[in-house]
Amino acid sequence: QGVQFDTNSGIASDRGYSCEQLAQQYGTPLYVMDTVDVAERANYFVRTVQEAFVNATTHVSFAGKAFLSKEIARIVTEQGMYVDTCTWGEMKIALAAGIPGRKLVLHGNNKTDDEIRLAIENDFDKIVIDEPHEPERIARIAHELGKRARVMVRVTVGVHAGGHEYISTAHEDQKFGISLLPADHSDVSDIQSAQFFDDVAHGPAVHALHSCLELSHDLELVGIHSHIGSQIHDADAFIEAAQRVMVLRRAFYATDGYVVPEIDLGGGYSVAYVEGDASMDIRETMERIAQAIKLDSTRAGLPLPIVSFEPGRWIVAPAGYTLYRVGTVKTVDLGEGKQRVYVSVDGGMSDNIRPALYGAQYTARIVNRQGSHDTISARIVGSHCESGDIVVHDIALPSDVKRGDLLAVPVTGAYGRTMASNYNQLLRPAVVAVDNNGTHVMIRRETVDDLLSLDVSE
Ligand code: LLP
Repeated sequence: QGVQFDTNSGIASDRGYSCEQLAQQYGTPLYVMDTVDVAERANYFVRTVQEAFVNATTHVSFAGKAFLSKEIARIVTEQGMYVDTCTWGEMKIALAAGIPGRKLVLHGNNKTDDEIRLAIENDFDKIVIDEPHEPERIARIAHELGKRARVMVRVTVGVHAGGHEYISTAHEDQKFGISLLPADHSDVSDIQSAQFFDDVAHGPAVHALHSCLELSHDLELVGIHSHIGSQIHDADAFIEAAQRVMVLRRAFYATDGYVVPEIDLGGGYSVAYVEGDASMDIRETMERIAQAIKLDSTRAGLPLPIVSFEPGRWIVAPAGYTLYRVGTVKTVDLGEGKQRVYVSVDGGMSDNIRPALYGAQYTARIVNRQGSHDTISARIVGSHCESGDIVVHDIALPSDVKRGDLLAVPVTGAYGRTMASNYNQLLRPAVVAVDNNGTHVMIRRETVDDLLSLDVSE
């Protein structure tokens, strides 16, 4: 699973296919996706959730924003997952893969009428409401289509978590969701207190749920949704979010007498990018969430909700890696006896924006030969016209690293291809699938003709 290194030769391979062979056959830079690994990870996640929530129905959606192609959509749905989409393009790819709408979810803080219409026409399992005017807009479109839309309300639960400010979503001053608490809420920290319950009962989230019920001719209120952020290491944050969502479910029952059938706790489960990084223990986390939900339902005398999750990164990140060819090796004298070796590769911030955008860390290694045992401190950089175009900030590489070497950067299966750009008119790399039957192109490499075909002025 993933790249295996032969410690004698230094040559790496994936399911028997050497990285050099893949690079020569498909070119570099190249995203490689071990699709058996994706299927196994999807299967593990779904199974673990089912085992943790013994008496409750569970759903797991794959967050397509992490990586999406028709093949991946089919692989994850074969393992029992749904697919979560948040744009016209993601919806169209999932539908083109033949995934039935009842296995699809639509998110988004700024959905177009066309997106909402497409979701309702295809009987999407859920449309996730993100702002207080949306129930009415969705109801109107559903009415025009003569259908009832299944909706969830996304709430901002106020739990602070997540790797970087840009990917943390449950604090108040950001664009997603509807607040659990009113702005003038009291300062209680005990979320099981009567005061907290009372605050929630008077909050914007209860109000939005109420709006959905009022439109019940055209909307079926299915659930409450919470996504607190991404690359979260701390399981406590998920437990806290689940508990807060359960308070909302109770408070809404108290005000409107309606038992919200489903709660969706979103994605955000961390993976390890570099040595020493932790990866979220899914089993332990799910067991703890299950316990919290059970305790709350029992205390309140309410039936257990259907419980849903939306992992993206955890499913695909470790199953993918990127291969780059080294073009130049330059030593820069920093004075006082210090040097930095810049190793330039044929991709960079256009195929992996994460280091530049979030300061994300990766490792890398030479995979076409052993290389010398002496190491140098190197910075791996891309081919773009920007000094922030960094792939790996600081890494020990064999001191004889040279032009023509092949470098592998592991754990690029999530938010690599989906956030890729054509900056400097670089061509977005191919994604090649490796499985037990061989290798094949999943998404082809762009060509200059692709670029020119968009440039239509004479
Ligand atoms: N559900 C919702 C509503 C989301 O917004 C996201 C991610 C997920 C699920 C999946 O989260 P995951 O399990 O993949 O952490 N581009 C950033 C990550 C942004 C995540 C945005 N939303 C990165 O490269 O780290």
